[in-house]
Amino acid sequence: AQSERDLLYKIHEVANEFFQNILWESEEGRSIGLSYFRERELKDDIIRKFQLGYSPEKKNAFTEFALEKGYTKEVLEKSGLSIFPENSPGGIDRFRERVIFPIHSFSGRVLGFGARILKSNVKTAKYLNSPETEIYHKSNVLYGLNQSKQAISRKNVCLLVEGYMDVISLHLSGIENVVASSGTSLTTEQIKLIKRLTENVTILFDGDNAGIKASFRSIDMLLTEGMNIRVLLFPEGDDPDSFARKHPQEYVEKFIENEATDFIDFKAEILLKDAGNDPIKKAEAIRNIVKSVSFVQNALKKEIYLKEVSAKFGLSEQSLFNELDVQRQITE
Ligand code: UTP
Ligand code: MN
Ligand code: MN
Ligand code: MN
Ligand code: MN
Repeated sequence: AQSERDLLYKIHEVANEFFQNILWESEEGRSIGLSYFRERELKDDIIRKFQLGYSPEKKNAFTEFALEKGYTKEVLEKSGLSIFPENSPGGIDRFRERVIFPIHSFSGRVLGFGARILKSNVKTAKYLNSPETEIYHKSNVLYGLNQSKQAISRKNVCLLVEGYMDVISLHLSGIENVVASSGTSLTTEQIKLIKRLTENVTILFDGDNAGIKASFRSIDMLLTEGMNIRVLLFPEGDDPDSFARKHPQEYVEKFIENEATDFIDFKAEILLKDAGNDPIKKAEAIRNIVKSVSFVQNALKKEIYLKEVSAKFGLSEQSLFNELDVQRQITE
């Protein structure tokens, strides 16, 4: 007999094919889904590479299809793809009238989906994602890893972005060593997936407040796992997707190479922006930076970073070491 997990993998495979078929073969899929992707300048081969799809407007299109194929209501419900409220015996699809981004495991199995609304003025969430299921634990998955793993190994660096479209647009530009945390804050499990391929990560988050906040959290997580990191904040209002579509590949590559800085310069630039000469705010910023240094695992690297802070702010190494001790006591 098939285990429940096997059935869940299978139904995701079926759904993945269904959404792609609708996108390419149906009138609704072509005129709405495919046009949406084309408006965002995606080429057919990249749409196929990421197995993008479309879920129709009809409220139980997929559920009906799967029931006809012999999948049970129970499995459909466990997969998160359908619900069966009492007043809708035919079931309701989780994803309706959205473009579909399948989420793959490291080895390429479909574990779940992200689905984007087409109109931006509607009040529901822009992206609807699969719920946690027996096979999908979002904290253990990185979007794009399956498509990017070879390039990450080859280039020995992993670009970390926030969103689905960031991964896809960078691939379209020929930059294929990229994964997304998909809007959640980066976890230890996700970092361990990257670490199988490389110890070097460049954080490329959106140029907005949410992006800054997320990058600060990610910096500390990555340092704790012993990763080497560089950070780049996109110009205000840009994310890697919009930036990659505005500029040619070579420009984007050079931009990343030249503008990504170490985490000390990155944090300093942001934290000191509105500190001026206020000693209290300045001290606050420096403590915040030293706190990140306290997460650096390797003792030699930690000392080098501390020397950098010392030189940058004209502070004695001794007082920074003292601060490091304080931070260590707080975090331990
Ligand atoms: P963003 O808000 O930056 O969206 O969220 P985006 O990726 O740039 O989306 P586009 O370009 O408008 O299509 C970054 C990521 O956070 C997750 C998604 O993974 C998204 O790609 N997210 C965002 C959600 O899961 N739900 C949401 O409602 C919004
Ligand atoms: Mn499990
Ligand atoms: Mn954003
Ligand atoms: Mn974004
Ligand atoms: Mn975007």
